[in-house]
Amino acid sequence: MNQFQYYTPTKVIFGKGTEENMGALVQEYGCKKVLVHYGGGSVKRSGLLDRIYQSLDVAGIAYVSLGKVVPNPHLSLVYEGIELCKREGVDFILAVGGGSVIDSAKAIGYGVTNEGDVWDFYEKKRNASACLPVGVILTIAAAGSEMSDSSVITNENGWVKRGYSSNYCRPKFAIMNPELTMTLPQYQTMSGCVDIMMHTMERYLNHADNMELTDGISEHLLRTVMKNAKILLNDPENYDARAEVMWAGSLSHNGLTGCGTDGGDWASHQLEHELGGMFDVAHGAGLAAIWGSWARYVVDAGAERFAQFAVNVMGVKAAGDGMQTALLGIEAMEDFYRFIHMPVSMKELGIEPTEEQMKELARKCSFWGRRTIGCVKVLEEEDMYQIYKKAC
Ligand code: NZQ
Ligand code: ZN
Repeated sequence: MNQFQYYTPTKVIFGKGTEENMGALVQEYGCKKVLVHYGGGSVKRSGLLDRIYQSLDVAGIAYVSLGKVVPNPHLSLVYEGIELCKREGVDFILAVGGGSVIDSAKAIGYGVTNEGDVWDFYEKKRNASACLPVGVILTIAAAGSEMSDSSVITNENGWVKRGYSSNYCRPKFAIMNPELTMTLPQYQTMSGCVDIMMHTMERYLNHADNMELTDGISEHLLRTVMKNAKILLNDPENYDARAEVMWAGSLSHNGLTGCGTDGGDWASHQLEHELGGMFDVAHGAGLAAIWGSWARYVVDAGAERFAQFAVNVMGVKAAGDGMQTALLGIEAMEDFYRFIHMPVSMKELGIEPTEEQMKELARKCSFWGRRTIGCVKVLEEEDMYQIYKKAC
C-alpha cells in the first residue's frame, strides 16, 4: 500500500427532505450574499429553485442568481459569474444541480478570489491560492463533484475541455436527497452510473499491490452501482436504489477508492474530456463509448489486475491464463453497458469523427504533444489516436 493523504472536508447531509433547512445551513458560514447557480431549467420545473429562494428568505440571506449552466460547462458563463459576484459582493456560492453546475461554481469561486484569468489554472499555467466557499444541493448522481477537488470547464475558444484540481474548491457541504434525482431522464441516470463506476475503475486498474481493503471497498461499490442501475432501469422511483447510487457517486470520487493506490490511470477520462469538448456528449456515456477500446489497448500491461476485476466485480469465472480472464471481464463490462442502454462505441454514442477529427482529438488530448496520459500503459499522441480509432 502506498503512502496517502485522505482529506474529505465536505459535510454531507443525506436523505429525504434534507434541502429544507438549507437557509439555516448557509447561515452557519456567516456569508453576506449568496450566488444561487443552476443549469438549464430542471430545478425550475421541479420547483426546487423556488423552495431554495424561500429558505434563503426565511433565513434572511441576500442572494442573486445565475442559471443557464450547460452540460460540459462553458468558460464564458464562468466569466459572467465572476463579474456578477464581484459587482454584487457575493461571498458564498450555492450550486444547485449536477457536476456541470458545481464545476462552474468552483471556477467562479476561483475567479473571484484570484487575480488574472481563471483559465490559467485550467491550462496549468499557475495555481490558485483560494476559492469562494461553495455549497451544493445535488440533483444528479454522477460526477462526484459535490465532494471532489476538481472542476472541469470547456473553453468555447477552440472547444477544449480542461480540469483543474485543488483542495480550495472542495464544497463546504453537500445536501443529497435521492428523491431530487427521480426527475432525471433515464439516459442521464445511466450515464451517471457509468461515470460513478469509472471514477473507481480509474483508481482500481493500477499497478499497486497489497490493496485488500481499498480493493474490497472498490469492488463492492462497483457491484452495488451495477445492481442498483439495473433496478432503476425498470423502477426509476425506487428510493433505495437512488440512495445507493447517490452515495456511491460521492464515495467513488472523494478519494476513498484511491487510498493507497498509485493515483489511478485516468486515461479514459482524459480521452473522454476531448469528446465532451468537441462533440458535447454526456460525460458518462462518452466514457462507456471509449472504455472498451482503451481497456483492450492496455490490457496486456495489466492483465493480472484486469483479471481480478473480471472475477471479483464482473463475476467472470477464471478461464485459462490471466489474459483470457481479463478479456472476458472487459466483454462483461461492455455487456453491462449495453444492458443499461449505454453506448460501447462512438457510433453508438451518436458521433462519427472523421480521420482529421480523430487526429485533432489526440492532438488536443496530448496537449499538442506535450504530455502523456495513463499509468497502466503510458499513452502518447499516436496511442490516443489508435484508441479513438478503435472506439469508432
Ligand atoms: O441543466 P439542467 O436543466 O439542470 O439539466 C441537467 C443536464 O441537462 C440534467 N439534470 C440534472 N439534474 C436533473 C436533471 N434533469 C432532470 N432532473 C434532475 N434532477 O442532467 C443533465 C446533465 O447535468 P450535468 O450537471 O452535466 O451532469 P453530471 O453531473 O454528469 O456532470 C457532468 C460534468 O461534470 C464533469 C464532466 O466532465 C461534465 O462536464 N466532471 C466533473 C468532475 C468533478 N468535478 O470532480 C469529475 C467527472 O469525472 C467529470 O469530468
Ligand atoms: Zn467522470
